[in-house]
Amino acid sequence: MHRSLLSGFLLSATLLAPMPAPAQDYPPDITRGKSVYERHCLACHGMGGWGDGPNAASLKVAPADFHRFSSFLKSDEELLRTIEHGVVYSPMHSWRGQLTDGEMQDVVAYIRLLSQQGR
Ligand code: HEC
Repeated sequence: MHRSLLSGFLLSATLLAPMPAPAQDYPPDITRGKSVYERHCLACHGMGGWGDGPNAASLKVAPADFHRFSSFLKSDEELLRTIEHGVVYSPMHSWRGQLTDGEMQDVVAYIRLLSQQGR
């Protein structure tokens, strides 16, 4: 079931955008991506990735809404770089050292999946 959702996404991504070099050998582990997301990211980015997590209101910089076109247009590599290194002067800190490479790649795949889903 996950696999068909994912291949649907890969297909639409291929049609809509020039495919960037894949960040890893697919398929990523969406289940692991989800548990990483729920543990570390949900508080700010929200259950559905709309940037409306319980901590969002108290932040100076609003968490990214992964449904926005600006996030959608970024390659997996770009998102991965943000997760790995964080954003300067932003509550989005670097996750290098706290998450493994594989966990970061899986969480990108999960974010991609969330961004495909409506409310
Ligand atoms: C403390 C709140 C907070 C937590 C926790 C957090 N983020 Fe963020 N995140 C942000 C904020 C704020 C931004 C917007 C950064 C900016 O534009 O300055 C952001 C931006 C991002 C972006 C960039 C999106 C884009 O379009 O460029 C990605 C990807 C991202 N976060 C992924 C994650 C992942 C994955 C996790 C969990 C491992 C996570 N974030 C945890 C606050 C958070």
